[in-house]
Amino acid sequence: MSIEQCEVLNLPRIEDARGNLTFVEGAGHIPFEIRRAYWIYDVPGGAVRGGHAYATLQEVMIALSGSFDVVVDDGFTQRSVTLNRSYRGLYVPNMIWRQLGNFSTNAVCLILASASFSEVDYIRSYDEFLGLRPAT
Ligand code: TYD
Repeated sequence: MSIEQCEVLNLPRIEDARGNLTFVEGAGHIPFEIRRAYWIYDVPGGAVRGGHAYATLQEVMIALSGSFDVVVDDGFTQRSVTLNRSYRGLYVPNMIWRQLGNFSTNAVCLILASASFSEVDYIRSYDEFLGLRPAT
């Protein structure tokens, strides 16, 4: 996988004077079938999340509130993406190292995932990740 595939998706946006609305309908807006959703919140200042890759899991990350940065890394190149709009989702395929940081106060990160939780899918050692990455 390459960080070129870490695409920012523009999700549907229904603008309304009463407040805006965004939705996702599975494969229509997300490049995989959603099997799990989880969210990260109450992040203390300076904390960092992630710091791993997944062998097979694909995810889309959305800043439902506030902002944070996602550093994606394919083992060759790194890129930092700031998420600060509720209608943008960052697609992160499998075999991409990711780290989330620079969370604003009250940031909420929603993550849509392609599979149920599996600890064995995690690659938590960066050296192991470098060894497993496909040659380009
Ligand atoms: P982890 O994925 O390591 O957190 P981060 O978001 O920083 O990458 O998960 C932290 C802990 O939560 C770990 O013990 C596994 C557990 N967990 C679940 O039980 N279910 C889940 O869906 C997720 C994402 C994590």
